Amino acid sequence: MNDLLLRALRREPTERTPIWIMRQAGRYLPEYREVRSKVDFVTLCKTPELATEVTMQPIRRYGLDAAILFSDILVPVEPMGFGIEFNPGPVIDRPVRSAADVERVRVPEPEQELPYVYEAIRMLRRELEGKVPLIGFAASPFTLAVYMVEGQGSKNFDKIKGMLFDAPEALHALLDKISETTIRYIGAQIDAGAQAFQLFDTWAGILAPETYREFALRYASRVLDALADRGVPRVYFALNSAHLWEEIRECGADALGVDWRTGLDKAHGILGDRFALQGNLDPCVLLASPDTVEREARKVLERARDLPGHVFNLGHGILPPTPPENVQRLVETVQGHRG
Ligand code: CP3
Repeated sequence: MNDLLLRALRREPTERTPIWIMRQAGRYLPEYREVRSKVDFVTLCKTPELATEVTMQPIRRYGLDAAILFSDILVPVEPMGFGIEFNPGPVIDRPVRSAADVERVRVPEPEQELPYVYEAIRMLRRELEGKVPLIGFAASPFTLAVYMVEGQGSKNFDKIKGMLFDAPEALHALLDKISETTIRYIGAQIDAGAQAFQLFDTWAGILAPETYREFALRYASRVLDALADRGVPRVYFALNSAHLWEEIRECGADALGVDWRTGLDKAHGILGDRFALQGNLDPCVLLASPDTVEREARKVLERARDLPGHVFNLGHGILPPTPPENVQRLVETVQGHRG
């Protein structure tokens, strides 16, 4: 098997830098749009054959070094007791606004209640035939709480912050329930065959260091620690979080995602040798010419030269207008590079 990803995440030596891309299956690919023209996004997530097909699309086209399950971080919200739609961003029915609402949140048995997730993972492991590892994922508890309280994306995050400052006990009770759900949800992904996982903390960056520590890091760490002895590398990706690195440095992840806002050499200087780093090309570079893509990718590789482990990725998800041939050039550049 090509196990470059797993070795790099564990900071073991690799012949070259492995690459995968956040949202590597998605609307920038014509073959994805073809599937999506027939079914909506939720149906895609809930149909293991279709989720398997779109997960495989970027693997076939580019020979990336890892597959990531096609799903969404909001999937566990439904068995927790909420209706959810994608339009195209997620919209949650009857969001959590009070301690009484938190009381009603369920802690589900994901294995029984989200069987399609685990069926897709088993199908993918068969389909991949051990060629590249399969990555599972979930939201960090804080990021999922943001969606459950705001009900959708937000500009000022006034509702989650209102709860954080005015009703901290209620928010802690919600985060407890989400953490337990997430430990079960990822644990069962590992049982089904996920060989690494990533915790997405997309909204960590809206917090200051003190509130981040109390409401985000504590629960992300709980999930990471609970899964430490499962033998799979654990990646923690907090977007927009350079102001939180002193705190993040304390988490028990094997690897940390870094967005494009800080060079990987500087990140390494602050985060230290305990973590492999994953990142961090600006997704907008992929909208430029192929030569620019190659030049900027080489800069990332150069700045990653002295890292204890490096997994190439974008600093955030790939953008829908990305020309597929630019991804081709990116993968060739990274896979052809010898450091
Ligand atoms: O990385 C992968 O290829 C795996 C699939 C994946 C999706 N979402 C598919 C998706 C993963 C890992 C996610 C995670 C996710 N989902 C995050 C964390 C990462 C991040 O981007 O910060 C977040 C915040 C979400 C919530 C979400 N889902 C939003 C805000 C949106 C709408 C924005 C958009 O891109 O349209 C989605 C929908 C979504 N999730 C799509 C895909 C491919 C688009 C669905 C479609 O219309 O086909």
